[in-house]
Amino acid sequence: MAAKPADDDRMKTLVSLCKRRGFVFQSSEIYGGLKSAYDYGPLGIELKRNLMEEWWRAMVHSRDDVVGLDASIVMHTDVWKASGHLAGFRDPLVDCLVCKERFRADKAPKLGEEEDAPMEFADKGRAKAALAAMLERGVELTRRKKTLFGAKGNERGYVCPQCGSPYLSEERAFNLMFRSSIGPVDPLGEVAAFIEGGELPSGAELRTKLEEIIGNTAVYLRPETAQAMFVQFQNIQQTMSMKLPFGIAQMGKSFRNEITTEHFTFRSCEFEQMEMEFFCEPGTDDQWMEYWTQQRMDWWRQFLNHPENLRLRPHEKEELAHYARACSDLEYLYPWGWDELEGVANRTDYDLKRHQEASGVKLSYFDPNQTDPETGKNGYRFVPFVIEPAAGATRGMLMYLLDAYHEEEAPTAKGGMETRVVLKLHPRLAPYKCAVLPLVKKNGMPDLAREIVAELQQQGINSRMDMQHAIGRRYRRHDEAGTPYCITVDGQTLEDQTVTIRDRDTMEQERVAIVDVAGLVRERVWG
Ligand code: GAP
Repeated sequence: MAAKPADDDRMKTLVSLCKRRGFVFQSSEIYGGLKSAYDYGPLGIELKRNLMEEWWRAMVHSRDDVVGLDASIVMHTDVWKASGHLAGFRDPLVDCLVCKERFRADKAPKLGEEEDAPMEFADKGRAKAALAAMLERGVELTRRKKTLFGAKGNERGYVCPQCGSPYLSEERAFNLMFRSSIGPVDPLGEVAAFIEGGELPSGAELRTKLEEIIGNTAVYLRPETAQAMFVQFQNIQQTMSMKLPFGIAQMGKSFRNEITTEHFTFRSCEFEQMEMEFFCEPGTDDQWMEYWTQQRMDWWRQFLNHPENLRLRPHEKEELAHYARACSDLEYLYPWGWDELEGVANRTDYDLKRHQEASGVKLSYFDPNQTDPETGKNGYRFVPFVIEPAAGATRGMLMYLLDAYHEEEAPTAKGGMETRVVLKLHPRLAPYKCAVLPLVKKNGMPDLAREIVAELQQQGINSRMDMQHAIGRRYRRHDEAGTPYCITVDGQTLEDQTVTIRDRDTMEQERVAIVDVAGLVRERVWG
């Protein structure tokens, strides 16, 4: 069902702040916007990059047993055949016959079979149209309020998430991969030639033929970053002489033609993932599964103001993907309830074996120091098991924005009170670490501020100079942008080469020598 009003308000407030402060914009906004596509603005890209760089640092740079990969987004179509994505990466699609909403059956609100479905419409106009449509169908209804009807019976066990109607189309399997074509061949030309060339076959035959023509040049945008790491397993193991256990990490864009895009960037068609495939010896997989689950929980929690809003939920057996022996979701308490942030799965040897069979290339590991349990001879060749922590970077960014959003009453310069909006982003994630503010635009203050910014930037501390509006407004603006430190150049600076440094969260200010600013900020942000 739709989110509760208070939860809706939290999302609306955040979406509005994201636009106001340049974190996230609707894609193609001046043309009316493209549904569920987003552009990360000047602050958004900094936050997303910081988050992804922290992940890379933790998963690759601070370990000897993990190396990176940046694979092509478009891969050979056989990859998706072997991985099972072409045949099986589908969601059950349903249309509501009353309000025309298109949604995923498995995500729809559930009702008992015997329970009558209350249908709710946003306004009288929609209710009237729906009523007319249902009367035409001879549907039995009980009328309660002008915009609320009760529909008798509920055979499907779920109802429309938009209006609550149990009158639904049949479920259809819908493949989530975006299809394109590669090369200078025009499949439509072939289709036209085929149709022109003879009698039109039956619907099913025509569809098969069209699939064949389009399939000849079809390529797919990757729906996950994972598969390239299986496909490049051998190259990476050999070129880097990696010894088991070891991991391959990759972050970047993935694409899914989601039926239901929802909750701002939470579920979108284009998003970024941070995935790592950790190859280990069969029999050690349970232990590595536990290890990586804990690592990932600790990693996300270190940047949260409210770590209690992140929990671990092991999957029930019936929930497990066909390739997984175990899986745990890291879930965050979003405004609409607990929902997924990352999944850690034990994928066994499923993927390597599938690619090995399909490509004919050995994707195994040889350990010369082990005895083969079957032959008793020295040296053991086996297909490793895989533990996969698979996280969403764009989803992670949304979580941190929600966690950081904070409102409080704060005094104004005129002695009154006002609502202060603060994004309490962890300083390491914050887009700008410092804003340097000359108190006034004269007496050499802007020049001095410029010098301080240049020095901070020189030292790799992303900082901005800001001269627009009164100092109080500038502080508020940077509170909303999540900038942890505001450095103010004032009259005293000109006399003794000191500035004030204001803490975003406590609003306390202290005076420090200009020469100490960079070191102090570095120490506070990175420790
Ligand atoms: N390789 C395994 C895999 O891709 P997944 O659970 O489908 O697993 C991993 O995706 C993570 O990617 C999810 O936990 C989520 O954070 C993110 N994700 C998946 N689909 C998404 C979408 N449509 N929009 C935003 N993030 C998504």
